[in-house]
Amino acid sequence: MPKRIAITGANGQLGQTLLHSELAESYTLLPLGREELDITDQASLAATLDSLKPDFIINAAAYTAVDAAETHAADAYAINEQGVKHLARWAKGKPVHLIHVSTDFVFAGEKNRPYQVDDPVSPISVYGQSKLAGEKMLTTLLPGKATIVRTAWLYSPYNTNFVKTMLRLMKERDELHVVDDQIGTPCSTASLVGCLQAIVKRNKPGRLYHWTDAGVASWYDFAVAIQEEALALSLLERAIPVNPIPTAKYPTPARRPAYSVLDKSKALVELECPQQHWRSSLRDVLKILSER
Ligand SMILES: NC(=O)c1ccc[n+]([C@@H]2O[C@H](COP(=O)([O-])OP(=O)(O)OC[C@H]3O[C@@H](n4cnc5c(N)ncnc54)[C@H](OP(=O)(O)O)[C@@H]3O)[C@@H](O)[C@H]2O)c1
Repeated sequence: MPKRIAITGANGQLGQTLLHSELAESYTLLPLGREELDITDQASLAATLDSLKPDFIINAAAYTAVDAAETHAADAYAINEQGVKHLARWAKGKPVHLIHVSTDFVFAGEKNRPYQVDDPVSPISVYGQSKLAGEKMLTTLLPGKATIVRTAWLYSPYNTNFVKTMLRLMKERDELHVVDDQIGTPCSTASLVGCLQAIVKRNKPGRLYHWTDAGVASWYDFAVAIQEEALALSLLERAIPVNPIPTAKYPTPARRPAYSVLDKSKALVELECPQQHWRSSLRDVLKILSER
């Protein structure tokens, strides 16, 4: 009998990528959108998981609206902290490996070298604080029994994300301004799924990993690459000027880390996850979009 993987937040971009991944060939995937399993509802979560009896849970459910979280902190914490608590409480004492996805936003972003898994955390936004609170729930309630993977700058062919927003704006507008003083690494959800797949296969809980594609970029670099690659694939018909601007000229409700490159060496060594440069992953995703 194939092992069973429950996927919470199955309608999100990571959830959708998991469902369409190679995992489906070797495991029974149990997709749980918010309608099937609301992680804020402890009683119904327990009843649903009791009946499904998964061997793994990949928690891809989250409150991800970074700016809205500043004024809806209770909603962000209900999902990103309390929802994780409910999953951890259910998993406690059961033969299940809970795999949870967290974020580079747990860091303040003041360093100028990649963040290692044991670097001090100090989130500067409500979203980052609520995600860190979720991590703490797991380390407190399920010590040694859960895996946490911090990732960053996720995009995919599914739902809304930076790549799809840029493509739309590049069609609609004659010029774009994009911040060039926030530095990180884009990560396609397919790349993250490669790492999650390795975690499932190895099945040794109790670790904290960092995962993104390889390389470093500013949002401006990312936008320029999106336009170049999209033009090459005829996803766009004309080039428009893309201009760099400082964050100070693009104020947002939530503060974002100025630098949040993650050090992936632990995952690369222990999990041997397949990794490629972010620009190759971008090309892969744009190719999928061009074939639609
Ligand atoms: N996106 C990024 O750039 C990024 C960066 C770093 C880390 N991450 C982390 O990566 C993970 C996956 O992110 P993503 O980009 O795939 O997010 P996403 O596309 O926003 O998907 C999140 C999913 O969670 C669902 N959800 C929200 N509240 C729920 C609840 N109470 N019960 C069950 N499901 C609920 C949402 O459903 P609704 O659509 O109904 O709200 C949505 O389908 C998250 O943990 C996120 O924090 C993301």
